[in-house]
Amino acid sequence: MTVSEMKFSFSHLFSISLFIVFVVNKAHCIRIPDRISETTRDQPDQQNLKTAVFSLGSFWRSEAVFGCLPGVVRTTVGYAGGSKINPEYRSLGDHAESVQIEYDPRLISFRDLLEVFWSSHDSRQVFGQGPDVGNQYRSIIFTNGTDESRLAAVSKEKEQTRSRSSIVTTQIQQLGIFYPAEAEHQKFELKRHPFLLQLLGNLPGEELERSSLATKLNGYVAELCPPIIQMQIDAKINEIIKKGWPVLREL
Ligand SMILES: *[C@@H]1O[C@H](CO)[C@@H](O)[C@H](O)[C@H]1NC(C)=O
Repeated sequence: MTVSEMKFSFSHLFSISLFIVFVVNKAHCIRIPDRISETTRDQPDQQNLKTAVFSLGSFWRSEAVFGCLPGVVRTTVGYAGGSKINPEYRSLGDHAESVQIEYDPRLISFRDLLEVFWSSHDSRQVFGQGPDVGNQYRSIIFTNGTDESRLAAVSKEKEQTRSRSSIVTTQIQQLGIFYPAEAEHQKFELKRHPFLLQLLGNLPGEELERSSLATKLNGYVAELCPPIIQMQIDAKINEIIKKGWPVLREL
C-alpha cells in the first residue's frame, strides 16, 4: 500500500466511521460508555520502566513519532534543556520543546530510541525544523548516566559520518528537570479526532494523558507509526466499527 492510498483509506474509514456512529446513536440510542477502565495489560509493571527525553522540533509531532513504537508505554510533552524555572508554552525561555518517553527496556532499548530520533528529524537544520523556526525547536538528546552518554555520542558520530559535510547540530545534555507542558499540548494530534476519543471512551483529561492506548492512537492519527503498526491499528479500528460497538479496549 502506498502512502497516498493509506492516507485515503484512513480519511475514508474516518468519514464512514463518523457516519456509522451517528446512525447507531440516532437509530438505536446505544449509549457509548463515558469511560472505560483500562485493562491491566495497558498498565505494565511501573517499576521496570525507563524514561528517555528528546528534543526534535515541535513536541506535538515528537510525541506522535514515539507513541506507537512497541515497548513505549507513555509519552508526555514538555520543556527541558534550559534554565528557566516553570516554563510555559508562550514563555518557555531557553528550554526546548521535548518529549518524555516511558518505555519497557525489555521491548525497546535506548539505542532503538536513538535510531528513531535520528530518522525522525533533520539534525543538520540550524535554529528549527522545517516551518518551525526558533531555538525552542533545537535538537537535543538528554542522557542519564554514562552508558546513555556513550551511546548518544557514538550515534551522533555515526550520524555525522552519514551527513558528510553538513554539521549535525544535535546537542547531548545531561537530563535535568523535565517540565510537563500544559494539558492542551498533550496528545495534541489525537485531540483533533473526536471520533477516536470517543472510541477510547472519552477519558477525562489526566487519564487520557497517561493512557497507553491514547499514546498509540496519537501516533496513528499523525500517520507516524511504523507502516506495519499503522495498518494493524487501521484493521483493529475497522473491526470494531464492523461489530458496531465502538469502544476500543486494546491494540
Ligand atoms: C536516572 O536513572 C536512574 C536509574 O536508572 C533513575 O533512578 C533516575 O530517576 C533517572 N533520572 C532521571 C532524571 O530520569
